[in-house]
Amino acid sequence: MSRILVLTGSPRKNGNTDRLAASFAKGAGEHNEVEMVSAADLAVHPCTGCNSCFGREGNACIQEDGMALLYRKLRETDVLIVASPVYFYGVSAQLKAVVDRLHAPLRNSFPIRKLGLILVGAAELPELFDAILVQYELILRFFHLEDAGRVLVRGAKDKGDVREEDLRRAYVLGLSIT
Ligand SMILES: Cc1cc2nc3c(=O)[nH]c(=O)nc-3n(C[C@H](O)[C@H](O)[C@H](O)COP(=O)(O)O)c2cc1C
Repeated sequence: MSRILVLTGSPRKNGNTDRLAASFAKGAGEHNEVEMVSAADLAVHPCTGCNSCFGREGNACIQEDGMALLYRKLRETDVLIVASPVYFYGVSAQLKAVVDRLHAPLRNSFPIRKLGLILVGAAELPELFDAILVQYELILRFFHLEDAGRVLVRGAKDKGDVREEDLRRAYVLGLSIT
């Protein structure tokens, strides 16, 4: 039984990312405690690079916004699953803002053991996920995290384009998490 946090990065409600994330959560919820949080809903401001978090009591960020809630949740997360649409070969800006705000040393108090990735893009290009996967691999290595698995979906542009077989893959990945 793990505590799983699914962090979604699309500002488009009930789109392809949300549907894949929900399918994952359904599978993962069979044997784990799962919570979903939308980076877009949290309205997280970008890191300003002030580095004052390094000197502050508790090492928290000076900005007071939706990230406070996420810092609290990440302190109770064993497995973090990040789900994002592909935006210009990267993750969405909403999600990137959250990632950058993990610069704060507060992150050292997180018990996260595993990281997983769900991505969806419109193109069918073989290289569609390459840039994100390089960053993902580097983050796994840097934080000594186990790869919980990935679901990479091509060819889904409009809401509802995501196919049953893709949703099934997300569900099966969820089921595999312990
Ligand atoms: C700003 C923006 C940039 C995008 N860039 C790409 C891209 O580089 N490659 C791609 O295949 N799709 C791109 N897309 C399409 C989305 O990845 C695709 O529509 C996806 O299904 C959206 O997921 P959602 O329904 O969860 O929002 C882009 C969409 C937007 C809005």
